[in-house]
Amino acid sequence: MTKVLVIGAKGQLGQSFQYCATQFPGFEFFFKDLPQLDLLDNQQLHQYFTSTPTDIVINCVAYTEVDQAENEPKMAHQLNALAIESLSQLSKSFGFKLIHFSTDYVFDGSATKPYKESETLNPIGVYGQTKAEGEALMRSAGIDGWIIRTSWLFSPYGKNFVKTIFSLLQNKAEINVVADQTGSPTYALDLSADTLKALDQNPVFNGVKVYHYTNSGYTTWHGLATAIQKQINTHCKIHPVDTAAYPTKAKRPKYSVLSCEKIKKEFNLNPQLWESALKDCLKKIK
Ligand SMILES: NC(=O)c1ccc[n+]([C@@H]2O[C@H](COP(=O)([O-])OP(=O)(O)OC[C@H]3O[C@@H](n4cnc5c(N)ncnc54)[C@H](OP(=O)(O)O)[C@@H]3O)[C@@H](O)[C@H]2O)c1
Repeated sequence: MTKVLVIGAKGQLGQSFQYCATQFPGFEFFFKDLPQLDLLDNQQLHQYFTSTPTDIVINCVAYTEVDQAENEPKMAHQLNALAIESLSQLSKSFGFKLIHFSTDYVFDGSATKPYKESETLNPIGVYGQTKAEGEALMRSAGIDGWIIRTSWLFSPYGKNFVKTIFSLLQNKAEINVVADQTGSPTYALDLSADTLKALDQNPVFNGVKVYHYTNSGYTTWHGLATAIQKQINTHCKIHPVDTAAYPTKAKRPKYSVLSCEKIKKEFNLNPQLWESALKDCLKKIK
């Protein structure tokens, strides 16, 4: 059986992999998070791989606080870039394939049509910069694996926009939501299930391949908040506002829709519309 280690297993995406794992009997899963497996502790990782044969590592660990990263660039750099370099070296020594996740925030958001995998990266904040650096370190390590860029993750797990808005809509009379940033919401349960579906097809690995994966369709944060409200029926007023009226520490891309044609075609995947994924997520949250 193919032995798959998922690290960062208690995060939003990590928990989604745990949820989907039972649908893939061809894999033997090992789920680890802090403190059993610390991505910044190379000695611990070395010991783990010495004693546990591993075919595939799915890395769900990241520094994901976009605004906080502006205050803590060193920490973000350590986890999103340097730790990926170390993990890549371990992949080389121990021969496992590395599946790593990256973000739409590696792009600057000036595009007007969906970003393809090959387009130039130009992150506009620390989080995106450190994720882009992690990608580059993995790509230059001479290993086999995938970098899967995704965007606007939501799920019943952890902290995310859908859960935050779901709670605000029930507790506030009115809220302001940014209406001039466009992207594709992605259900972490779809991302994890489709990643495993792709791996289950016994793909041939040859270097590091980059893929984009999101749910189908796109919207703004305001559009997403409105769609949540439609499904839970509250009286809260949702006011559309410009980014300028809602200043945050980190700059965010204005448009970050990712073209997912490559992963869809290579693995015969058909990600559902974000609206139907949202319905499923809200059912699970309620
Ligand atoms: N969230 C999004 O909207 C979004 C969008 C695009 C791309 N992505 C990418 O998708 C991936 C998954 O994101 P996510 O939202 O699932 O992240 P998350 O919920 O923040 O999960 C990250 C996990 O990593 C763990 N972790 C932190 N430091 C660690 C260390 N030194 N060693 C081991 N584990 C450590 C965290 O534990 P603690 O909680 O205990 O710190 C947490 O369980 C990331 O690569 C992210 O960049 C996310």
